[in-house]
Amino acid sequence: MTKETTTGTAKPWGGRFREATAASVEAFTASVHFDARLARHDIAGSRAHARMLARQGLITDSERDQILRGLDEIEAEITAHTFVFRPELEDVHMNIERALVEKIGAAGEKLHTARSRNDQVALDLRLYLRDEASRFDELLTDLQKALVELARRSLGIIMPGYTHMQRAQPVLASHHFLAYYEMFGRDRERFVDCARRINVLPLGAAALAGTGLPIDRESVAAELGFNAVSANSMDTVGDRDFAVEFASVALLAHLHLSRLAEELVLWTSEEFRFITLADRFCTGSSIMPQKKNPDIPELIRGKTGRVLGNLVALATLLKGLPLTYNRDLQEDKEPIFDTVDTVSASLAITAELLRHAECNQPAMARATKGGFMTATDLADYLVIKNVPFRQAHAIVGRIVAACIKQGRELTDLSLADLQAYAPQIEKDVFATLSMEGSVASRLSTGGTAPPRVEAALRQAEERLGMVP
Ligand code: ARG
Repeated sequence: MTKETTTGTAKPWGGRFREATAASVEAFTASVHFDARLARHDIAGSRAHARMLARQGLITDSERDQILRGLDEIEAEITAHTFVFRPELEDVHMNIERALVEKIGAAGEKLHTARSRNDQVALDLRLYLRDEASRFDELLTDLQKALVELARRSLGIIMPGYTHMQRAQPVLASHHFLAYYEMFGRDRERFVDCARRINVLPLGAAALAGTGLPIDRESVAAELGFNAVSANSMDTVGDRDFAVEFASVALLAHLHLSRLAEELVLWTSEEFRFITLADRFCTGSSIMPQKKNPDIPELIRGKTGRVLGNLVALATLLKGLPLTYNRDLQEDKEPIFDTVDTVSASLAITAELLRHAECNQPAMARATKGGFMTATDLADYLVIKNVPFRQAHAIVGRIVAACIKQGRELTDLSLADLQAYAPQIEKDVFATLSMEGSVASRLSTGGTAPPRVEAALRQAEERLGMVP
């Protein structure tokens, strides 16, 4: 059985080859179905490169102008979705270059002077991730605002704080939400820091060793807004550490989202009922008429696996890879794109979801009953009365054990009951045993006392530009 095995498409490397590329090879090696996403950045890089070539006398001003006009046309076609990407031209770089040559002829054939796809693809990916890092900063900022708004709406509501998922000490619900504000704030810092290392110009490294042609990398860096020019051409075309870093920073943000998602799933359950999500952010069941399911947080939790998987894929790509460029590196793009899409969508929808979520104060208040959450406060009270903390801990432990046996709460005990365990206890103890008293006492920096939380909230609002 014979079959057509080549498409007969001319390749830039055709001079050395005695037969056309097998169609199966074209299909296997093609990346344009995913790297077409880099087209805008590829064109931006080519514009800057062409201008530099003209400044350096490597092409004429007229050739530069033809190139720029051709690139403008190609960009317009891509925007209008009329540009046809051809898989037999492998990748976005060769598709655009070929289209340029078809449009303007000989001048187009000069664009690739002193450039390799190896430095070109590194440039495109850096430009792309630089844009994404700043978009992620905006998404994270918006999510922080949604959390701060929820914290503001929930001010004054007391809920159980948990350790080991057991009721531990009472806290303000706003304090809980502001914890996530802090986490996403660190994610923002990590994106900014990562963007600083992304923002280094790779173009001019050429294939791997630099070029003998008189290029001017510094001027290209300035035009494209890079804050440095890469120092070693082999490192430049061979590494993708910046992509691994981006994927790991994005993973951390998604881990934070996933923790919040888990709490939303728990908190919307009948067992908790701490929070209510708007109907339009939930889904129902095809069989159980009563159901209102928190699918959004569940999906966010579920997507953590692929975001981690993408990071593992990228790290594995680099493991044991000899210098410099190897075709393996083409495999960097799909995990990066998937991480960008998954994490950005999750950040955006979480902000939207939170804007339509409300705390259920009575349910939170009910949950503060039972669980002896002010036991630490009682021990601290004894410390103030000069009982060493370890002894105080043991005394309160015995009181709690007795309460459990008698089915009573700490607040059910009389002064005489308490004094039987510790004669130092006086009637001012009862302020200590209330949820309000406990929360109010936690004035240490970073603690949950209302004035602390209000100040933290105000500071967050100021930082986010939310105060008029
Ligand atoms: N599509 C390639 C990639 O994504 C571009 C660079 C190819 N370079 C090469 N010499 N084959 O890595």
